[in-house]
Amino acid sequence: MTRFTVNGQPIEYRLDPETPLLWALRDASNLTGTKYGCGTGQCGACTVHVDGRPTRSCQLPIGRLEGSFVTTIEALSRDRSHPVQQAWVAESVPQCGFCQSGMIMAAAALIDRNPAPTDEEIDAAITNLCPCGSYPRIREAIRRAGR
Ligand code: FES
Repeated sequence: MTRFTVNGQPIEYRLDPETPLLWALRDASNLTGTKYGCGTGQCGACTVHVDGRPTRSCQLPIGRLEGSFVTTIEALSRDRSHPVQQAWVAESVPQCGFCQSGMIMAAAALIDRNPAPTDEEIDAAITNLCPCGSYPRIREAIRRAGR
């Protein structure tokens, strides 16, 4: 059994400790906003926050999360008031949309620690992949969110 907090709720997972966090969230907690893309830590579609840090959930076994605090896109977008979410809407960022929940989680973590990032800092922090190539709108939305 592994205990940690997801979106403010303490949860006990009775799963193999090697289960990737992504599948605990999606299959055991029905938090399907976190997406499966590559499954190899490359694309970032599965990004969540673990203790405030952006984390590829497909690569993190839940056994390492005892006592941690996990935040998913469901909590971040709950009341539609998060500045990153508002900026995303204002800049019409999504195209196909598949990468967007992970992208927003990565952007929110960046804005939390650096509200006015330079383009270089955005590019260094946001390593998530967008198959549609919406990177210019992503950068603009991150700048807007920090204002
Ligand atoms: Fe986790 Fe691509 S699904 S990084």
